[in-house]
Amino acid sequence: MKNITIDYTASCLVPHAELIACQVQLEEEIDRILNARTYNYDTDYASVNLPFDQHLVEKIKSTVKEKKSLQPTMIIVIGIGGSNLGTVALYEALYPTFQASNIKVYFADTVDTDYISTIAHYAENELKSGHAIILNVISKSGTTTETIANFEFFLEIVKKHRPTNYHECVVVTTDKHSALWQLAQQEKFTHLEVPALVGGRYSVFSAVGLFPLCFLDIDIDALLSGAQSGFVMSAHKKIENNPAALSAALLSVLYKRGCVIHDTFIFDNALEGLGKWYRQLMAESIGKAYDNKGNVINTGITPTVSIGSTDLHSVAQLYLAGPYNRFTTFVSVEKNKTDLKLPHNEAFEALVAKIQGKSFASIMNAILEGTKKAYQNDERPFVSLHLPEKSAYVLGQFMQIKMIEIMYLGFLMNINPFDQPQVELYKKETRQLL
Ligand code: PA5
Repeated sequence: MKNITIDYTASCLVPHAELIACQVQLEEEIDRILNARTYNYDTDYASVNLPFDQHLVEKIKSTVKEKKSLQPTMIIVIGIGGSNLGTVALYEALYPTFQASNIKVYFADTVDTDYISTIAHYAENELKSGHAIILNVISKSGTTTETIANFEFFLEIVKKHRPTNYHECVVVTTDKHSALWQLAQQEKFTHLEVPALVGGRYSVFSAVGLFPLCFLDIDIDALLSGAQSGFVMSAHKKIENNPAALSAALLSVLYKRGCVIHDTFIFDNALEGLGKWYRQLMAESIGKAYDNKGNVINTGITPTVSIGSTDLHSVAQLYLAGPYNRFTTFVSVEKNKTDLKLPHNEAFEALVAKIQGKSFASIMNAILEGTKKAYQNDERPFVSLHLPEKSAYVLGQFMQIKMIEIMYLGFLMNINPFDQPQVELYKKETRQLL
């Protein structure tokens, strides 16, 4: 199986000696993460154990089997932020554009009335035709306003059509100590646990991601085995062989030189959701008011997501002319699922030369390499991250590497990458207003 690679030699603009200094600094953190494997879910690094948890996989598979026996035609995944972004990312990446899984899936995250009423309309149609639908409610805290509002709303719809057995249609994923867990027990909803020390944005390999993904026939064994290999790669002591440590080192060194933006520039439409998943992972983990000693530092790197080649016609002017405050990770996929070619039509040669008969992939590749050359000529720092293909295995590897990258980056920046106290501030104010 081919692994993800990062090429940083072309234009990372960081001298090797500085990378080695980071490698030395990271040694103790690498040991801590390796050590976390022996403490199961009892440390801040709990999430790294998820891909190895066979008991969890069995529980997920048996729950999926039980719910599929109802012959449902739709699942509504109700959750927001870390509770749904990973699932959305994997679903979009693994199901080709414009083709859905056999079971319809809708993601109810925010409380946009028009959006939710559209999902409600589809749900009613399924229920009226006598089909079952599954509500998968995901909230670690069990108190997120949007999630609880959407749950209450959709539950009412299911109850109307299945007054005696509505509870069979619900799967609640939450912390064992939440009020939502208690409600699930009282109402006899199936409930799956999120370990207390696995935070939302690190939870894609817990029941948070695994239940809906397995339900949608995504190969979770391959996903988790990719994540296991991502863990092994991220524990390598040599920085050039450790993509998580390498990215974290580059981000922290370049941040000190004014690169306050990290753009993930993805040359594959289906991976936009993956970019958004990473955006949340980085923003919530690295944007911090205080350092580990309690000093006010108001630090953070702003993650952005750009899609190639489309966004070259939107933001490239800024990226190549604006301030030198951005570090870019170009993401590309080596092996596409299809192999489209242009016909030979000489009349078109005068419009754009040298593309007749060429494959779409080779044209895209020329655009990507041309973009990198322009960045290099203008000394805009970047690395190239290659995914061998868009498979569950490779995406699992990518996600695990990125989660560990953020842990390393938190360590190098002397902040806690696992909390999000300021998110709680807005939640509190909202509750007050309501
Ligand atoms: O990563 C995080 O911790 C957050 O993005 C949460 O996932 C998000 O706020 C939703 O929280 P909860 O799962 O408690 O509903």
